[in-house]
Parts: sequence; C-alpha cells; structure tokens
Amino acid sequence: MIIETVQLNKVFKQAVKKPGLAGALKHLVTQEYVYKEAVKDVNLQIKEGEAVAYVGPNGAGKSTTIKMMTGILHPTTGQVKVCGIEPYKNRIENAKNIGVVFGQRTQLWWDIPISETYTLLRDIYEIPQKQYQDQLEMLITLLGMEEFLYLPARKLSLGQRMRADLAASLIHKPRILYLDEPTIGLDIVIKKKIRQFLKELNQSSHTTVLLTTHDLEDIEDICDRIVIIDKGSLVYDGNLNTMKDTYAQERAITIEASSLITDVDHRLQGYSGIRYESLDNANRIKIYFNRFEIKATELLNSFTSDYEVLDFKIDEPKIETVIMKMYAGNLKSASELGEKS
Ligand SMILES: Nc1ncnc2c1ncn2[C@@H]1O[C@H](COP(=O)(O)OP(=O)(O)OP(=O)(O)O)[C@@H](O)[C@H]1O
Ligand SMILES: [Mg+2]
Repeated sequence: MIIETVQLNKVFKQAVKKPGLAGALKHLVTQEYVYKEAVKDVNLQIKEGEAVAYVGPNGAGKSTTIKMMTGILHPTTGQVKVCGIEPYKNRIENAKNIGVVFGQRTQLWWDIPISETYTLLRDIYEIPQKQYQDQLEMLITLLGMEEFLYLPARKLSLGQRMRADLAASLIHKPRILYLDEPTIGLDIVIKKKIRQFLKELNQSSHTTVLLTTHDLEDIEDICDRIVIIDKGSLVYDGNLNTMKDTYAQERAITIEASSLITDVDHRLQGYSGIRYESLDNANRIKIYFNRFEIKATELLNSFTSDYEVLDFKIDEPKIETVIMKMYAGNLKSASELGEKS
C-alpha cells in the first residue's frame, strides 16, 4: 500500500468564545474548550496508481485527513503511513514522494515570476537539471502555461494560478498527488482541461491521486474509487460504478413517436417497479425502470413495432443523488455494504 491509515484519529481542542464584553474578559482568565473529533477511526488502504475521490459534506474531515497524510498535522491516535513513512515524523522525506494542491491556497511565491518559483523548487528538491527541464517543458505544454510563465503569481487569474500550482506540485515527479478542491471557482473549460490532465497523469505516469472535491464531475472524470466521509467516519469505500449499480439502479427512457402513444399501461404490464409519465400530449413518454429488471432496448422494441419512433434518450442516474443520500445517512453504513477494495 502506498497510503495506509490504521484507526486514524484527530481531535481538535476548540476554544469556546463567550458572547459580549464579559465573554471577552473572561477569555483572559478561564478558557473553556470543547473537543472536536474531526477524524474518527479512519482505515484507508490505497494502492500505487489508484485515483481515489475523498468526498463528504463541509466539515466532514477531508482536509484534516489530507493534512495528516502530508505531515502538516500529526494524528491524535492511530497511524498513517505514506510510502512506508510516517509523514509528521519525517516531513522532508515525505515531501519528496508527494505533491499537494490546496485549491483555496497557493504555494507559489507571490511576487516572483512563476518560472522562478520552479527554479527555486528545483533547488529545494535537488532535481537533476535534465530531468527538471524535461518535466517542466511537459507541464508547460500540457497545462498550456506559455502565456503566463513570466508573470508573478499575484497577477495570474484563478485558472492560471491553479495550473501553475499544479505544475509546482508535480515538478519533482512525486508518486502521490493530493488535491484538495483543485477545481474550486474555475470555469468549465479550465475544469475540463485540469480533469483531462489529471486523468492522463494517473494513467500514463501511474501517479496515485487522492482528490477532494465538491464537484462530482471531477470524480466521474478522474476516479474509479470513491471514499465517503461524514462527521469524521468513513461511510462508504468502494468502486464508483459498483456504487451506482447498487444504489442507482433506476434509469429513464424517453421515447418520442410520430403519433400519440396510448396503450402504455398494457405494454408495461408484468414489469415490477416501473412507472411512466406522458409528455407533450403523449407524443413522448418517459418510462422509469430498473435496469436489472428490464433492458432499455427491450422497452424500446416494444414500441417500435407499433409506432414510428422518432427519437429516444436514456438518462443515467446522477451520482449526486446517491451521494446526497449517503450524506443524509439514508443508506446502509460501510460495514453493512461489505464492499472493500
Ligand atoms: N486547526 C483546527 N482547529 C480546530 N478545529 C479544526 C481545525 N481544523 C479543522 N477543524 C475542525 O475539524 C472539522 C473537520 O474540518 P476539515 O477542514 O477537515 O473539513 P473538510 O471535510 O475539509 O470540509 P470542507 O469541505 O468544508 O473543506 C471541522 O469541524 C473543523 O471546524
Ligand atoms: Mg476541506
């Protein structure tokens, strides 16, 4: 395992602030605290080359987990190992193996040209010149960075800055890339570009990717495996498609005919869990069905024999729907799911 956590816990001591002046003064004398369990007994095993989405609602514990993996935070109890190293005990050694992008922050030097940030990183990581040159050229091309390479970070647009940050995190060819909301605030064109880049990086260089995001399209484009955390605990860990097959079995097919579709009830008789609605005065119907009960083609064929079908469309379930249900605790817990990869 390239990343492994065992019963990983992080508890934060949070000061309780009392309201008003009395509160402010009291603050100086006695301080009250609450303990926040940000990460609870997290067991994660990630193999080299995997692309894993780490998702959950705000405050679930995602960033805290990643910070423990990068060595910024040390665990309260439990263990985390990255490439066999305990990150917080050996931050420098760990840094050689990992790249980190926090979408909300930048690691670029604010006032110096981007190009010089990379030279500094080359020296910090002691990257051989030839390797550095090749890697930088590759990153500049793939991320389309030519036009802003000589600007200081403070002059870059958000999309440019994010690409420059990505390049900075990859300049030393790390085995693992942590991405904490890498597409936050970006327009859809840049989002697509970054997703393509990450997918390519994962597939061609086998870089292990751990991605945190609230944009579920990021997940579908980049990751095969999804880990869901809620209130510090893992609630799901498994293959993305398996999750969809298990929890999003409903599909919808919309069929459009040249004339009114009338005898729907009769045709759908005998199938369980099926329902439909008529659209546009019944020239179009939308049928909701369980994909494991009946095939879309079977449904379509039952109409093409009697109607002139002009068009049809099949809707896949939205991963959002499934994940929202999981956040809300409406689905079985991870242990009941029994799926572990
Ligand atoms: N340094 C800290 N001191 C005290 N509490 C903290 C600290 N960092 C995080 N927390 C708390 O730990 C919990 C988990 O925070 P974390 O940042 O890991 O959530 P997250 O899943 O990344 O959420 P988001 O999607 O909003 O980024 C939150 O309740 C947060 O307030
Ligand atoms: Mg976060």
